[in-house]
Amino acid sequence: MDKEAQKRLAGRKALEYVEDGTVVGVGTGSTVAHFIDALATIKHRIEGAVSSSERSTALLKEHGIPVFDLNSTGGLPLYVDGADECDPWNRLIKGGGAALTREKILAAASSKFVCLIDPAKQVDLLGAFPLPIEVIPMARSYVARQIVKLGGQPVWRDGVTTDNGNWILDVHNLRLSDPVRAEADYGRIVGVVCVGLFAARPADVVIVGDQIRANR
Ligand code: 5RP
Repeated sequence: MDKEAQKRLAGRKALEYVEDGTVVGVGTGSTVAHFIDALATIKHRIEGAVSSSERSTALLKEHGIPVFDLNSTGGLPLYVDGADECDPWNRLIKGGGAALTREKILAAASSKFVCLIDPAKQVDLLGAFPLPIEVIPMARSYVARQIVKLGGQPVWRDGVTTDNGNWILDVHNLRLSDPVRAEADYGRIVGVVCVGLFAARPADVVIVGDQIRANR
C-alpha cells in the first residue's frame, strides 16, 4: 500500500479516540490533513478543535469545524498529530512542517497524544531526520554556534518563517541515544523557542496505518 493510503487509514483510525462533545487538538501536516477530512464526517458530534497552525486552521474552517483558542478551552482530552520520526518508546522528531512550537504546546496541554505515522517513519534511533529547532531570528547565528559546540550540524531553513514569526535551524546527522537529554540541552540555549524533540512528553498512542502500535 502506498504512503498516502497509509496516512489516510491512520487519519480514519484516530477517530476512535475522539469523544462526543469535546474539543479536539489538531496537529499539522499531510497525515493530519487526512485526520481533518475524517473529523469532518463526525463534526456534528464534537464541539470543535484547537489548531496548531494557520494551515490546519484553514483546513478545519473549510470543513466548517469551529476553531477555538487554547486560552479559552483549558486542557484538552485529545491531541492528534503526525511526526517525522518515531522511536520504539514513542519519542518523536517533529517540525518538518515548521509548526513544532504550537504542536508541543498542544501536546503538553492534552491528556492523550495520539500520533499518526506511516511505517517508514519508525526508527530505532532518532536523528536521521534533521532535528528542527525554532529560534528567535536575531539569535539564529548565536544559536547555530552553540549547537555546533554540542556536536550538531545546523542548517538554516532559509526562506521559512514560522507562524510565530521565527526561523528554523535543522540539525543534521544526529544519533540521539538520549533524546530526553538532547531536548533539554538544546532547549537551554538562549534564543531557542522550541526543540522538535518530543521525548520528555512522548506520544501516548502511535497509529501506523490502521494499526494501533503496542507500547514498549
Ligand atoms: C509539522 C510536523 C508534522 O507532523 C510532521 O512534519 C509530519 O508531517 P507529514 O504528516 O506531512 O509527513 O511536525 O511541524
